[in-house]
Amino acid sequence: MFGIGEPEINAVAETIRKGWLTRFQGKTEGYLAQCERELASKIGVQHALMVNSGTSALIASMVALGIGPGDEVLVSAYTWISTPLAPMLLGAIPRLVEIDESLTMDVDDLERKITPRTKAIMVIHMANRPCDMDRVMAIADARGIPVVEDACQAVGGRYKGRRLGSIGALGCFSFNSYKNISCGEGGAILTDDPELFDRARNWHDAGTFVQSYDAPVKIPLFAGQDYRASEIQGAILFEQLKRLDPGLDQWRERVRCATACIEADGRFAIAPHHDPDSAANLALIFATPADCEAFCERNNLGSVFKTAGRHIYLNWAPLVEKRAYRDDVNPFLTEAGRDACFDETAAPKTIDILKRTVYLTPDWDQPLAEIGKRIAALK
Ligand SMILES: Cc1ncc(COP(=O)(O)O)c(C=O)c1O
Repeated sequence: MFGIGEPEINAVAETIRKGWLTRFQGKTEGYLAQCERELASKIGVQHALMVNSGTSALIASMVALGIGPGDEVLVSAYTWISTPLAPMLLGAIPRLVEIDESLTMDVDDLERKITPRTKAIMVIHMANRPCDMDRVMAIADARGIPVVEDACQAVGGRYKGRRLGSIGALGCFSFNSYKNISCGEGGAILTDDPELFDRARNWHDAGTFVQSYDAPVKIPLFAGQDYRASEIQGAILFEQLKRLDPGLDQWRERVRCATACIEADGRFAIAPHHDPDSAANLALIFATPADCEAFCERNNLGSVFKTAGRHIYLNWAPLVEKRAYRDDVNPFLTEAGRDACFDETAAPKTIDILKRTVYLTPDWDQPLAEIGKRIAALK
């Protein structure tokens, strides 16, 4: 998170003093609406919708696409549990796709895993690392399968000059406290498609829109949930958005510096990245898990496998144990979903790669002078 301070405090205080805590209370455009306008123009999409979490954004994106029982959704095996939970909660079957050494979706495996039942592809830009979007979009477009970009961990990030979240049919952001910018909890959905936007808006507002002074939805209203964000979240995020690009630029400068030091040092291999010029993350990759483990022990670090917790599919208990809140809404108990598998055999390449990689990303505000010393001191 790129800092938080007086501007956020003042914006929250102003919101409370006005007594205008929800989107619909004010007579004029509030903070949420301003965030949405700013997000849409910064990311380069027609529509943005603030919601109460990244998980909500992912579920609403599935609803917007009409994903439901019997459908299959391809998800890479290295992500936060919310990505596969989104289709599962709607009765669809999430299927795992391996990652490659970029730590993002293995596009060859994606191509192998597509079946006639595949109704969406969820790619994840993990830890600010973009997927190979040119290849993903070529494969998806050729088959008419929509792509959802989970950019929860990559808000503001770029891929070949485009912003992450603007390339697929829908993009999803998280603003929880671990993310590039934060309002405590929060999220956003981005899209160019007015109908997908209306479906997401309908879902996020309990299928009502009765109080909306925005452009009215152009679809028949259907039953939804309440994923609304508050003006307090909007106030914080409005100020946080001003920190996004300067923070990312500062981070990229540090990653460039660390990368140059590692390359000059010559002892370690850097994991491939799909847009190295705008990288805000750095990972080392080793030939074997044992090499990585030995390096980590010498340097008091942890491999991605050891440190990533529930970002690794083996630790997604509700999927591994195939449990929903009721058996009759559990897609894994249906004929179509019975063979879904989340054990070591499901994505062995992913496990191997995560055991061979370690993040070495400098902090976004680390003094530049320290970076070279840190690399030189690696054992
Ligand atoms: C890749 C990814 N997707 C989705 C989410 C869910 O976001 P939230 O915690 O805002 O619901 C996260 C959050 O950690 C994430 O890292």
